[in-house]
Amino acid sequence: MRIDILTLFPEMFAPLQQSIVGRAVKNQLIDLNVKNIRDYTGPKHGLTDDKLYGGGAGMVMKPEPLFEAIADLRQTENARVIITSPAGRVFDQQAAQELSKAEQVIFICGHYEGIDQRVEDQLATDVFSIGDFVLTGGELPAMVMADSIIRLLPGALGHDESSEEESFSEGLLEYPQYTRPPEFAGLTVPEVLQGGNHEEIRRWRREQSLRRTYERRPELLAKAPLTQEDLRILDSIKAEKAGHSRVWVALVHYPVYNKKHEVINTSVTNLDIHDIARAATTFGLDGYYLVQPAAAQKELIGSLVKHWEYGFGARYNPDRHEALGHIQLCDSVEQAIADIERQTGQKPLLVATSAQAGPKMVDYPEMRRQIAESDRPYLLLFGTGWGLTDEMMARADHVLRPIYGAGAYNHLSVRSAVSIILDRLFGEGGAKFSQKI
Ligand SMILES: C[S@@+](CC[C@H](N)C(=O)[O-])C[C@H]1O[C@@H](n2cnc3c(N)ncnc32)[C@H](O)[C@@H]1O
Repeated sequence: MRIDILTLFPEMFAPLQQSIVGRAVKNQLIDLNVKNIRDYTGPKHGLTDDKLYGGGAGMVMKPEPLFEAIADLRQTENARVIITSPAGRVFDQQAAQELSKAEQVIFICGHYEGIDQRVEDQLATDVFSIGDFVLTGGELPAMVMADSIIRLLPGALGHDESSEEESFSEGLLEYPQYTRPPEFAGLTVPEVLQGGNHEEIRRWRREQSLRRTYERRPELLAKAPLTQEDLRILDSIKAEKAGHSRVWVALVHYPVYNKKHEVINTSVTNLDIHDIARAATTFGLDGYYLVQPAAAQKELIGSLVKHWEYGFGARYNPDRHEALGHIQLCDSVEQAIADIERQTGQKPLLVATSAQAGPKMVDYPEMRRQIAESDRPYLLLFGTGWGLTDEMMARADHVLRPIYGAGAYNHLSVRSAVSIILDRLFGEGGAKFSQKI
């Protein structure tokens, strides 16, 4: 395999002469060729960068030297030509595995504001980012990617190193690892690892992998190949966690906006009462507050709920009875907060929802992680009518990113929004994963 790196700073690639990658180069497992882009400027072109068309600060890397360089370096029609860019697809282990099978990989390291788009359009087979942050140049990303590709080449890792059992190799994060001494600073190596029972060790490691992935990167579980045993382990991890995270949902009827942005009190609807109660129960929430201060409305809720709690409905449909048992009526969001504080001894963190993007926005995987890791109670706020007031949004500790589907239209009923959001925060996190259950 051959890797070419096109850069304005060839000296930056000294780290690739060290350690495992350095050994792979020395043993000729890889032909590594770092080339200065300036070698292709020639007297005709001179510069490597120029001003931005359309105005704006900074410089852009010119296309001519890069076109010339690729024509010079390309050994095969199938060469993968990779542009490093924060605007690319995020590089991952699967990409590393795929690229480790290529005959030739050429990296183009950007600088300044980036690279003239025609290089991407005409020459690149891939545009890769190494994460959602901006670096000064593409040298570190090219090194990061080259390292992860080279270590996968047959023979690159010695006997004592293995790429088989590690993070991502089976779609999960790797389990914790220990070495001697068995006790250090009062911290001991788990007993199971000190015994010689291979089956027990295998099971412990798998459980730890699943636990770490569930806690830190739950979205990976949707794609990981999971066995029936894994699903059982995940179920017990989830049940254990559910006992810790304490989450309530509130459906706010007052104060909310109407179409004209006036603050109003909306009427309760039977469907919202029932469907949200059922969703809250399905996803294991601690309770469902109906925020409604109007006396007549409270009476109406009381009679609807009573029918299912005590009357004919309770005997007719015990499941519905169970779900509605989670409903609590209150006059204000303040009351709901006070009630949670009374039960848990802590003020809940407020998580508001909105169909429109705004400040304090947090995405679902991040919120899911925070709730799973936090000891604080949470109250999820959903507005009826035209949504929660600006004042309420300002009070919230977090605001969940609006739900989007196929396009810009996202006018969901509040009960649909509740179900989707609860699934994103507490559900299996992916169709493939839930199908297996
Ligand atoms: C300052 S950055 C250009 C940022 C560009 N204007 C943008 O906002 O997308 C300069 C160069 O650093 C490299 N770079 C910066 N961050 C990167 C990342 N997260 N992944 C891959 N390459 C990155 C790219 O080669 C890029 O052309």
